[in-house]
Amino acid sequence: MRITIVTLFPSMVEPVLAESMIGRARTRGLVDIRVVNLRDYADGRHRITDDYQFGGGGGMVLKPEPLFGAVEALRTPDACRVVLTDPRGRAFTQDVATDFARLDHLILLAGRYEGVDERVAEDLADDAVSIGDYVLTGGELPALVVADAVTRLIPGAIGAEGGTERESFASGLLEPPQYTRPEEFRGRRVPAVLLSGDHARIARWRRAQALWRTWRERPDLLGRATLSAEDRRILDRFERGETADDVEPAAPRERDGHGRDSTG
Ligand code: 6GU
Repeated sequence: MRITIVTLFPSMVEPVLAESMIGRARTRGLVDIRVVNLRDYADGRHRITDDYQFGGGGGMVLKPEPLFGAVEALRTPDACRVVLTDPRGRAFTQDVATDFARLDHLILLAGRYEGVDERVAEDLADDAVSIGDYVLTGGELPALVVADAVTRLIPGAIGAEGGTERESFASGLLEPPQYTRPEEFRGRRVPAVLLSGDHARIARWRRAQALWRTWRERPDLLGRATLSAEDRRILDRFERGETADDVEPAAPRERDGHGRDSTG
């Protein structure tokens, strides 16, 4: 897959794309990410890319010609989509990322808050996305967010952990808590269940925690989540005042005649 980012500030995005998982996916040839300077498609000795807004009002507006020129030069005849970053765009969600990951070529046009000539949204871009309800100075960070979310969905881009399916927004719930060593840090112990070696119980605890977090922090996600009958019973218990620890305790249950289970 190819991702092309068209921006006036290549130096703002390039270093991010060289690091970590995206950098590795690129060097392994799993994704071809290119950064294009919009100024290269601006005409005239001064290569001007913006201009005053018709009708008055503050703020410069990106001119249409460089953006049309860039897209017409960069567009490929395969499954190619041109997406404008725009605070007025549709919400960029995991479903949109999944949709973009199926393309052969995603062209991201980094807008700027003051605005982009409307003819770009009307006649050039296939789509416009916003990354959230807040105002940024430009579309570079949103373009990086989109490139990151899409790249990690490309098969092989994520390491052996391969968590893309098990994860948070894939199942529609928030992730349960995670811990690593040490078992005790500044007086706080890792929940005993995770050290129990009882995989069925660990799975139940994680599910109860994921349901609890989602119910408390993001109840809006529950309507779209994939929930079993047992999940629904657990959510009913939360509604009646019980907590995740009531549903699936973190501490080992006392079992007659046995001490603490030390498997694992
Ligand atoms: Cl896509 N652009 C800008 N400038 N601000 C934003 C945004 C996009 N999404 C949220 N805020």
